[in-house]
Amino acid sequence: MAEIENRGGLLTGLFSRWKIVLLLVLWTLLCAISLSHSYTRLEQQLEYNLRTEGGTVFELLVLMRRWNAEHNGVYVPLTEASPSNPYLTDPQKDILSNRGQNLTKVNPAYMTRQLSEMAPTESPVQFRILSLKPLNPINKPDQWEAESLLAFEQGALMKSTLEQRLEGTFFRYIAPLITTSECLKCHARQGYQKGDVRGGLSIALRVNQRVAMVKSEKRESAVLHGVIYLLVALLLILLGRTRNTEARRP
Ligand code: HEC
Repeated sequence: MAEIENRGGLLTGLFSRWKIVLLLVLWTLLCAISLSHSYTRLEQQLEYNLRTEGGTVFELLVLMRRWNAEHNGVYVPLTEASPSNPYLTDPQKDILSNRGQNLTKVNPAYMTRQLSEMAPTESPVQFRILSLKPLNPINKPDQWEAESLLAFEQGALMKSTLEQRLEGTFFRYIAPLITTSECLKCHARQGYQKGDVRGGLSIALRVNQRVAMVKSEKRESAVLHGVIYLLVALLLILLGRTRNTEARRP
């Protein structure tokens, strides 16, 4: 008898009410930390993936522009869709080929704009070129772009943000266009030197689906955490009750 009483005493000690409460508090904390960690990881993963994607689009556009700049602009047939660029001050910009075709020179910025205008409005990727001192007023930055361009002058390498628009959620990515020797052929007269930030390329990716996917992954994680939390919490409460009633038995 004495032995059983003793055991009861010991168990009561082990699962006394305050210890169960302490365990419950610890368990709640653990679950909360785990859930918030899983949310942060999902968000970081999304940001990392989108930044990589934005960076890839940026690099590809820079490469295409460099190809153009290395040729000091490229001649294309003069058409209604590709008129002579009024901002290009090159005495050779409009020429006649020896077969009698009218040609006009397309500089990198003009090519970038033509490419971006070719993309349909529902395109998953939109982009444009801009500068704090634009030659062409159409290349004037919006507020976020202007702040990013200022940050690039202080050494920042890129900026990104998620933006809600009427058409949905967009991931905005912007990185600087640095003046190289090829750029100086046309931009030296504005006072730019090698290494200066000439402007930026602003990219917008349509990310409705990706954001919705992360939201549903977050929901799944919350439900999973909730179920496991409740099961263990219930078990702890039941354990506490059983032991306490056992202990109270004569
Ligand atoms: C063949 C001449 C030429 C070359 C080479 C050239 N640009 Fe330009 N760039 C222009 C002209 C002209 C504009 C004016 C905007 C337009 O054409 O719509 C411009 C515009 C820009 C803009 C947009 C802002 C603005 O001023 O309107 C940026 C940014 C830019 N250039 C960066 C560069 C960089 C970086 C290089 C070198 C990789 C480069 N450009 C090479 C002629 C040139």
